[in-house]
Amino acid sequence: MQWPHLVRRFIGSVVPRQPTQAEEAWLLSLLRPSEAALYRAQSPQDRSHSVTCALRIRDDLGASATNSIVVASALHDVGKTRAHLGTFSRVLATVVGMVLPRGKVEDLSARGGYLGRIGTYLRHDEIGADLLMAAGCHRTIVAWAFEHHQRPESWTIDPKIAEALARADG
Ligand SMILES: [Fe+2]
Repeated sequence: MQWPHLVRRFIGSVVPRQPTQAEEAWLLSLLRPSEAALYRAQSPQDRSHSVTCALRIRDDLGASATNSIVVASALHDVGKTRAHLGTFSRVLATVVGMVLPRGKVEDLSARGGYLGRIGTYLRHDEIGADLLMAAGCHRTIVAWAFEHHQRPESWTIDPKIAEALARADG
């Protein structure tokens, strides 16, 4: 995972720019019912980030921003819904993730209770990809959820699209 990104992402979630109702309605108009359900399951801060990412990639790519690219940008963090962590716990999870090898993160997520939720948060990329696949989402949407914390050399999406998705995520 790219932890500096998670730290920036956290700071952005504390003081987010709130999307307008019209901007959220625009995103919802692009989502299939199963995608909208995943969007709505997110916290208000994460929904705000979803809309912001979708707006950024629309403005960045213009006519090249296909539905699946915009939705990939919007729903890449839906795995966080399974961790049920508040702001303080997300900070703690981010710090834990900086020092814990990925294999240990998987061990942590297999535990119950609070530590298990920390591990779940740190595996939100994999968990989100599973949720999106189960929702019948386009391959690009599933792939970006799975890969958005990986290094560019690991991305399977068209590099230009993946770079735009990363820019939109801030
Ligand atoms: Fe993420």
